[in-house]
Amino acid sequence: MGRRIAAKITGVAGYVPPRVVTNFDLQKVVETTDEWIRTRTGIRERHVVDKGVAASHLATEAAKKLLAKKNVAPEEIDLIVVASVTPDMMFPATACLVQERLGAKNAWGFDLSAACSGFVYALTVGAQFVGAGTHRKALVIGSDVMTSILNFEDRATCVLFGDGAGAVLVEPAESEDECILDFHNDVDGSGGCFLYMPGGGSLNPPSQETVEKKMHYVHQEGQQVFKYAVRKMAEVSCQLLERNGFSIKDLALVVPHQANLRIIRAMQERLGLDDSKVLVNIDRYGNTTAGTIPLGLRDAVNEGRLKKGDLVLLVAVGAGYTTGGMLLRWAY
Ligand SMILES: CC(C)(COP(=O)(O)OP(=O)(O)OC[C@H]1O[C@@H](n2cnc3c(N)ncnc32)[C@H](O)[C@@H]1OP(=O)(O)O)[C@@H](O)C(=O)NCCC(=O)NCCS
Repeated sequence: MGRRIAAKITGVAGYVPPRVVTNFDLQKVVETTDEWIRTRTGIRERHVVDKGVAASHLATEAAKKLLAKKNVAPEEIDLIVVASVTPDMMFPATACLVQERLGAKNAWGFDLSAACSGFVYALTVGAQFVGAGTHRKALVIGSDVMTSILNFEDRATCVLFGDGAGAVLVEPAESEDECILDFHNDVDGSGGCFLYMPGGGSLNPPSQETVEKKMHYVHQEGQQVFKYAVRKMAEVSCQLLERNGFSIKDLALVVPHQANLRIIRAMQERLGLDDSKVLVNIDRYGNTTAGTIPLGLRDAVNEGRLKKGDLVLLVAVGAGYTTGGMLLRWAY
């Protein structure tokens, strides 16, 4: 029996900035080809912010769309959790900026840093407050502007990411048929050295030296992350299914983190999971870090791939290493 949370997702929305950068555009910036990026990652294009647009702006747009769609007034929101590794600034938290712009004057909120697992972590936390009965409408948002920390001279990282945000509304669940059935989140800090941004924090505060040494960019050992992601995403998916008495065939849809299409397909192979049960949109957005899973849920809803009662699995691996998995019954 899993760790039930008496909470459900009752709405989802997303926002990506309008400007599209294709692989062909990147060919003009760095030594790469559309063919390499497509075959090695599955990405064709990504959305990129213009100067002056930050994580809070994308998060606010996604949240506004969600509230409009659900006909919920901003004052009804009582909690805002924002997952991001590219907040507008060190402080105040992105959640505070979003709260102000939305006019969600009865909400408290905070940011959470778990990289690509950020949305699953944030959903776990937001849902716990709702499940405990102390909160009735939580906004859980994943928002990242990865292009703000990309080194466009490093072809092995700059082609992978895009900017975007997604938001879900979490409300109390009435029964087991519509709740969060289980979650598994873990950390393996020994992987911290394979994906990180060394500059800008209290260890290496910004200075001419940190800029010259390119410490304000994503540093990654891609193959290490790749192998860990495939293994952990498959392992956690199995664990969650098994301990709740389900098998792969019971799943209606898996919404995995979108880091690399080959990671997703390798995970599927381990699980024996058919393409038809996996949401893939990396071709259009690249890796939007905390944005991928809510954007995936949005696309799944828009494409009519989710219906009430469906068994849905969310799974992600990210810098840290962090891993997040959640099994839920789709509630609408
Ligand atoms: C980054 C990643 C796409 C690289 O793919 P890969 O198959 O492991 O490729 P390698 O790193 O072995 O590089 C193979 C070759 O392609 C080259 N290459 C790397 N990026 C390239 C690019 N954009 N265009 C063309 N060639 C490129 C490398 O320089 C290397 O050349 P070499 O053989 O002459 O040295 C892949 O490792 C990956 O996706 N890792 C996971 C990253 C991730 O998801 N991070 C987010 C956190 S979840």
